[in-house]
Amino acid sequence: MSRRRTAVLISGRGSNLAALLGASRERSYPAEIALVIANEPAAAGLAHAAAAGVAGAVIDHRPFGRDRAAHEGAMIAALGAAGIELVCLAGYMRRLSPRMVAHFAGRMLNIHPSLLPAFPGLNTHARALAAGVKLHGCTVHLVTEALDDGPIVAQAAVPVLPGDTAATLGARVLAQEHLLYPLALALLARGAPGMVAEGVAAAGTAALQNPLPLPGALP
Ligand code: GAR
Repeated sequence: MSRRRTAVLISGRGSNLAALLGASRERSYPAEIALVIANEPAAAGLAHAAAAGVAGAVIDHRPFGRDRAAHEGAMIAALGAAGIELVCLAGYMRRLSPRMVAHFAGRMLNIHPSLLPAFPGLNTHARALAAGVKLHGCTVHLVTEALDDGPIVAQAAVPVLPGDTAATLGARVLAQEHLLYPLALALLARGAPGMVAEGVAAAGTAALQNPLPLPGALP
């Protein structure tokens, strides 16, 4: 089986990257993590790539100043040179331009720490607590031009428990992120090349019918 060459873009810690690297270590996994790109030179996640023997590159946005197109042009060149087919944003904290989004349309995933469309943007766990929701979670979606938007591939929900803080709730969500992202990438990678967004969304529906186990019963 040929595995889909996949790049992971990070800005920081890289725990989701570590989960994807772990899944792709299995030969039967349909995607191979072939390249990691960080826009932050100090991104701790680069160590995960090095430990796994995967090529890691820093493409710092700062030298490009306000020229977002030039920064993304350098990333697209690096991705192309490595023969990358699929891209996973894993804590990549920069907006992408329409050009970059179009280049990887239907081939780029993002993970977000909420049950989208609820709580796009930052500070999702504190906002979920403030809103009083009883279920929170994470979403993997195809990347479109709008922030934290695009066809949903898969979601995992966790209960909000009495006494939760943003930290305890965030940790519960993160554990699910580490299960969900490898599942979602496998769904995309198993699709036909050039899989249309609607097809991926249908696959996401199937995933929802087989939800991941929740850590503990609802109160
Ligand atoms: C993750 O919780 C991810 O969902 C979030 O950043 C964190 C990165 O952690 N992404 C976003 O908020 C994107 N809107 P990690 O570097 O340990 O994977």
